[in-house]
Amino acid sequence: MKNMISPSILASDYANLESELKRINHSDLIHIDVMDGHFVPNITIGAPVVKALKRVCDIPFDVHLMISNPIDYVEDFAEAGADIICFHTESSSDTAQTIDKILSLGKKAALAVKPNTGIDEVLPFLDKLSMVLVMTVEPGFGGQSFMHEVMPKIEKIREKNRDIDVEVDGGINEETVKIAAKAGANVFVAGSAVFKAETPNEMIDKLRTNADL
Ligand code: DX5
Ligand code: ZN
Repeated sequence: MKNMISPSILASDYANLESELKRINHSDLIHIDVMDGHFVPNITIGAPVVKALKRVCDIPFDVHLMISNPIDYVEDFAEAGADIICFHTESSSDTAQTIDKILSLGKKAALAVKPNTGIDEVLPFLDKLSMVLVMTVEPGFGGQSFMHEVMPKIEKIREKNRDIDVEVDGGINEETVKIAAKAGANVFVAGSAVFKAETPNEMIDKLRTNADL
């Protein structure tokens, strides 16, 4: 599996998003955290901002919907330029219907699970998904500590499917990236680690090198 780094712009300077994207042009994907103030306590950005960013960035967009009713919004995000649309199994939308809607819009579908949600929730859908996102922190905030106890869920998905992308999100840094890679993850979201680094592109390269170890 190819290891990929997907920096989360949640930790970037929202006043200068275009130049922030240039500082991370070594990325494989761009992780965009969409929060609705209901599924999680915060509110971040929506489809109009994704659409504007698409005009200034060629790297594929990995859009992480932390929203209660994803099925009502996948069309907006598809039109805005999302390449991968990821929603939570804990949301109130029907999982199978939401995946089918994403696929019918010609986008890749991904399913996310919070730390306390069992991985059995995603297993029935693996065939249709491009990626599973295993949260390694409680969704809603950047800058939290990596939860090691979630690693067995990654091992289980990898055991069931050798080809699917398995993404980890939360608390990824130069050290924890190695632990997640060992468990079988191959897509690594990093917000604080990348944007707090003096040279974000160097940190992206370093994370990829460490994942490959
Ligand atoms: C948390 C978000 C993450 C967050 C990760 O709800 O889904 O993508 O930006 O931030 P760090 O890397 O700082 O833990
Ligand atoms: Zn995220």
